[in-house]
Amino acid sequence: MSRRVGILTGGGDAPGLNAVLRGFVKRAVGQLGWEVFGIEDSFNGLFAERRWVQPLTVRDCKGLLGRGGTVLGTTNRGDPFAFPRHGGVVEDRAAQIPEAMAELGLEGLVCIGGDGTQRIAHRLMTEQGVPVVGVPKTIDNDLAATDTTFGFWSAVDVATDALDRLHTTAESHDRVMFLELMGRDAGHIALHAGIAGGADVILVPEIPYDPARVASKILVRRAKGLTFSIVVVAEGALPKGAPVDEAARHRQLKEGGGAAAIAMASLAPWLPVEMRTCVLGHLQRGGSPSAFDRLLATRFGVGAVDLVAADRWGEMVALRHGEIVGVPLAEAVRVQRFVDPDGPLVAVARSVGTELGA
Ligand code: F6P
Repeated sequence: MSRRVGILTGGGDAPGLNAVLRGFVKRAVGQLGWEVFGIEDSFNGLFAERRWVQPLTVRDCKGLLGRGGTVLGTTNRGDPFAFPRHGGVVEDRAAQIPEAMAELGLEGLVCIGGDGTQRIAHRLMTEQGVPVVGVPKTIDNDLAATDTTFGFWSAVDVATDALDRLHTTAESHDRVMFLELMGRDAGHIALHAGIAGGADVILVPEIPYDPARVASKILVRRAKGLTFSIVVVAEGALPKGAPVDEAARHRQLKEGGGAAAIAMASLAPWLPVEMRTCVLGHLQRGGSPSAFDRLLATRFGVGAVDLVAADRWGEMVALRHGEIVGVPLAEAVRVQRFVDPDGPLVAVARSVGTELGA
């Protein structure tokens, strides 16, 4: 049966978005003969004044497997339920999405994105009757419905490489180097890269840290003749007892550069040594996906075609115990995954002498 569906990428970009597009188009267009329309800049491309919807061909997929970013463009300011207007005003434009789809003859939307995009997709389905299939993306790996999202392992690879590079300069200068990594409120990138890159200290949001304890770890190292130390700081990490001011925390996440600077300042009274911060920022999201992410993204793209073919609208593809499955979007948007302070990875970090600050 021939079908016509739209596909879009939403939220922050992540390595592997183009590989999902390629997997979806190669299977749906190349093998099943469907029509697939790419929508630019998340849901924004459906609004009349900025309509950008183009048929995608197998030829358009040339070179996409290893290409970073998204050829469809993306935005994290495109919520149709709260569309930003001038002066901080928002407008509910959600009803325009099914209207645009009817004009274009699209029977449903495949939405590739993180928790924000999947939440919007879920609302469009439940409140506007839009058939949607989700594909989970985020470097933060904080969607509990899937064992892993694509983009995460590429970010971990970049962060691990950065740690290798920081080691040599830290050692040469006898410095304490703080590397701030992304992840929002979850410390997965910091924990994974911190272990893979041999950090001496890993600070994650899920474990508020005691600066005195961290300083003591560094002083003990110095007493042993290890005159440099590497501290990985997740962007959401804070010292114990720090006031949890949501507005300030949001600003810190948006502007970056906060968590490592706070950690360095909190250790300064104990450490009469040279210290420097480094914020890896969007380098963690840019560039080519790793082999793992290319593979997972391709599996997700093909899996999304299978869901549409079976009319399993309202589901999101997910990786569970090595298999690609469909999970209800309602479940997918409900539960976030955080680092388990008593989990096996934290235990491994502790077992090799890594300090977690508490
Ligand atoms: O959710 C992905 C992510 O990269 C977070 O790790 C980070 O906090 C945020 O997006 C940065 O968003 P922006 O690209 O809007 O600065």
